[in-house]
Amino acid sequence: MRVLLTGSAGFIGTAIGRALEDAGHEVVRVDVLLPMAHGETAAAPPGTHLLDVRDAGGWGDLLDGIDAVCHQAAVVGAGVTVADLPLYAAHNDLGTAALLAAMSEHGVSRLVLASSMVVYGEGRYVCATHGDRVPPPRSRAALDSGDFENHCDLCGGALAWAAVAESARLDPRSSYAASKVAQEHYASAWARQADATAIALRYHNVYGPHMPADTPYSGVAAIFRSSLERGEAPQVFEDGGQQRDFVHVDDVARANLAALEATSERSPGELAAYNVASGHPVTISEVASLVARGTRTEVAPVVTGRYRIGDVRHVVASPELAEKELGFRAQVLPEVGLPAFATAPLRS
Ligand SMILES: NC(=O)c1ccc[n+]([C@@H]2O[C@H](COP(=O)([O-])OP(=O)(O)OC[C@H]3O[C@@H](n4cnc5c(N)ncnc54)[C@H](O)[C@@H]3O)[C@@H](O)[C@H]2O)c1
Ligand SMILES: [Zn+2]
Repeated sequence: MRVLLTGSAGFIGTAIGRALEDAGHEVVRVDVLLPMAHGETAAAPPGTHLLDVRDAGGWGDLLDGIDAVCHQAAVVGAGVTVADLPLYAAHNDLGTAALLAAMSEHGVSRLVLASSMVVYGEGRYVCATHGDRVPPPRSRAALDSGDFENHCDLCGGALAWAAVAESARLDPRSSYAASKVAQEHYASAWARQADATAIALRYHNVYGPHMPADTPYSGVAAIFRSSLERGEAPQVFEDGGQQRDFVHVDDVARANLAALEATSERSPGELAAYNVASGHPVTISEVASLVARGTRTEVAPVVTGRYRIGDVRHVVASPELAEKELGFRAQVLPEVGLPAFATAPLRS
């Protein structure tokens, strides 16, 4: 395959580019090297075409002869303030729409899109008596008293977490999440209108070598690691029992490869979405301990009981559909990948 990879200089794009080439595919790399991701003075990795995906006139012949596009370019992070809204809308919403139009103009009709678990908002919760429930927001009073679990709206009992399937309701809660939902919706509309094939991959918490270091946008594993490097104990919020799924960047790259190959076999006209997860959920306390183990320091994580209002208690994906339909199964277990991540190189 000849694959056009956007966001190729990013954390995940770099791993995808390598995996595609290792599998014998040809990669055309596109990235604008956003200063907020790479700093002001970063040099483009060799072979990168410096292009903003919003630039309709900038494609030249880059899309000629492309079999499929792997669209990773985006502004990432939670959306720290409301002032970030236009930034997400510009790069993620408009960027995707412009890319899709350019693809159709050049006869390219296969897309794999980087989506995210943030499209779900909350995880899935089950009451022993009442089954699946959408819990009301956790109250400050409950959180202050150390009661961090969600409760059933009917009986008040504590809710257990369950794995979220792709059919779950979409509930974006940040500007970033809204833009990831928008990307999926544009891809879906494009697949229908252009009789094209689109697959969205909803990554869970991605970690691994060359992950961005300690920024407001980086993941908790990188934040724990930075604390340990400073000789400080990782600060674990709530009681540390929050369940998450940490998926290694090399597995995310493998999932993209499987999805790109699958686009050639699908009947066109609609978007299919898949969770990309390790299938081995861990608590945030376990994440801190596994990263600490890898640094071989004596510093133990501290469970602070502090909380951030609005944080999701548990969110864990079901990896079953991706395995069944894409043949993707993660290979790196958190027990192995997280300690190794403790000493892997980071992007500064
Ligand atoms: N890192 C995670 O945990 C995670 C989780 C879920 C989804 N994702 C998604 O995965 C994709 C890759 O994320 P990442 O973690 O590698 O982030 P990253 O910031 O390392 O990479 C994104 C890349 O996109 C480029 N880019 C941004 N806007 C662009 C534009 N308009 N034109 C061209 N290039 C542009 C940036 O310069 C950067 O190199 C994103 O779509 C993100 O939403 C990431
Ligand atoms: Zn109940």
